[in-house]
Amino acid sequence: METKKIKIPTEEFEANELTEAAVLLSKGEVIAFPTETVYGLGANALDAGACEQIFKIKGRPADNPLIVHIASVEDAKKIVREWPAEADKCAREFWPGPLTIVLPKTAAVPDIVSGGLDTVAIRMPAHRVALELIRFCGFPLAAPSANISGKPSPTEAKHVWQDFSGKIPLLIDAGKCAVGLESTVLDLTGERPVILRPGGVTLEQLRAVLGEVEVDKAIALEQPAGSLKPKAPGMKYRHYAPQGEIILLSGDKQNRIDKIIKITDNKDPQQKVALLCMEETLNQLAGKQAGQLDLVFILGSQDKPDKAASRLFEGLRICDEQKMDFILAEEMPEKGIGLAFMNRLRKAAGQKDYSVPD
Ligand code: TXA
Ligand code: MG
Repeated sequence: METKKIKIPTEEFEANELTEAAVLLSKGEVIAFPTETVYGLGANALDAGACEQIFKIKGRPADNPLIVHIASVEDAKKIVREWPAEADKCAREFWPGPLTIVLPKTAAVPDIVSGGLDTVAIRMPAHRVALELIRFCGFPLAAPSANISGKPSPTEAKHVWQDFSGKIPLLIDAGKCAVGLESTVLDLTGERPVILRPGGVTLEQLRAVLGEVEVDKAIALEQPAGSLKPKAPGMKYRHYAPQGEIILLSGDKQNRIDKIIKITDNKDPQQKVALLCMEETLNQLAGKQAGQLDLVFILGSQDKPDKAASRLFEGLRICDEQKMDFILAEEMPEKGIGLAFMNRLRKAAGQKDYSVPD
């Protein structure tokens, strides 16, 4: 199959530029489209056969449910059995935006979409192309991130192309994704709202609107990996992983610099070592050490954690393109967007290398 790529600027486009995409989707095909978080691999969420194709193309385990993307609150209400007051608050404050809410589903949502669960995850993306596409189709779009299962999520069309060229009929290219990390998944089916996956909307923002909000203990930081089963099925798989081995840089500034020096000084010349770090850290590194690295990817400034977080997946993908054997990746404080950043980075590292042995 040949994959057609169409470029649609986010700001200015005519709805008819999406006709081809909408026709393919209505025929049960799977296509890739942009959202503000990451690119999605979408199909008609109410068509079980179409959604089955998503799992096949992505190589996704069948027990990992898909997020259903809608373009209005009315669309969301049509596929849930309950719409609690918290859902209203979330929709008012954070939609369209990087927040997914989990609620009890109706029979309209095929079991394959919910991975056999009795609930459905719903989100209204803050991207004009995505919203127009859903409206044009007249049905919601089930869409996981448009990467082969286990690989870093795609934050630009090029990444989708790397994984799915020849496997889907159409890719809509609208440039880079602004948020660059996936949505926050919030479970509203229990007594208290629980974050199942940290993401673009922060714990602090949710608490300001909903009051008490918990983080699923299975993904909480103090929890040793593997001791609890996360409630979002997707959280238990190794994810976001580049080919190279990730070595996390933690501790204070001097600690981080010392580790970089130690590793570059002892590195095998056959092996390629990359550094993913904040510009402040790079500035502290002597030219000699920096010169021994095979790739330096600056995430951004400490003062702009959102921007830095939005570049994580791009950095991991570049390390793959340039065949890095080791990736020294700098940690971020686990507050605000840092919680989602560290969750992805730890998973990419296989949740074992929390720090470098001295
Ligand atoms: O930002 C995003 O959320 C992107 C864009 C495309 O919207 N999508 C995305 O989808 O990241 P995916 O499939 O890569 O991740 C969905 C996550 C998984 O961890 C999955 O287990 C969880 O949401 N999930 C989906 N439905 C669920 C449900 N009913 N209950 C609990 N977790 C659910
Ligand atoms: Mg994903």
